[in-house]
Amino acid sequence: MTSSKKPGKHQHHEVFSASRAGHLDTRLRRFIYRPDRLAEKYVNPGDRVLDFGCCPGFFTREFAKRVGENGHVFSVDLQEEMLDILQKKLGPEGLLPRITTHRCAPDSLGLPADLNGTFDTVFAVFVVHEVPDPERLFREISLVLKPGGTFFYSDPPFIVSGGEFRDNLARAEKVGLRLAERRFYFVNRAAVLMKV
Ligand SMILES: C[S@@+](CC[C@H](N)C(=O)[O-])C[C@H]1O[C@@H](n2cnc3c(N)ncnc32)[C@H](O)[C@@H]1O
Repeated sequence: MTSSKKPGKHQHHEVFSASRAGHLDTRLRRFIYRPDRLAEKYVNPGDRVLDFGCCPGFFTREFAKRVGENGHVFSVDLQEEMLDILQKKLGPEGLLPRITTHRCAPDSLGLPADLNGTFDTVFAVFVVHEVPDPERLFREISLVLKPGGTFFYSDPPFIVSGGEFRDNLARAEKVGLRLAERRFYFVNRAAVLMKV
């Protein structure tokens, strides 16, 4: 995708409260979004995956199952409470040895430099609209991905307009994430990008 148009101003939305975390890990949501199928499509056994804005671990669970014993998932969130809930939920499922939780700052992933270029896939599902500076986030995502690595990005249409979503794809392209596929994830706008 190439566009000479300057992206519009990013609409920064309120952070999803940890007090509502229970709404995000339900059977209905599993039935609608099939996170197991998402993992099957974009994650391979042995992969290193970053789940940005992991919340209570709705997607992390399936990524951790999919990567198997030889892979690893880094689950990153701004809110410590979300990471605590994730650990309480996924501990009894035996998945924690494959998961590292990391609390980030609102404007930076804050991962150590030795993790640069080490991830096969990064997911940012229903979170970019809550981030103050998406271009900065995409730059950091680009940095941690291996060349040829995949970035799966999705945002809801009732929060992020088609124009805003395209602006974010332009921001991502600027920092070395090339659009490979535009798709829908249930009713949500989604894109698969590749680290060049
Ligand atoms: C709407 S929730 C949904 C996320 C999850 N991917 C899901 O669909 O189940 C958004 C999550 O992103 C986190 N978040 C918001 N802003 C963030 C930021 N700047 N950095 C990291 N996480 C952030 C929130 O704490 C919340 O857990």
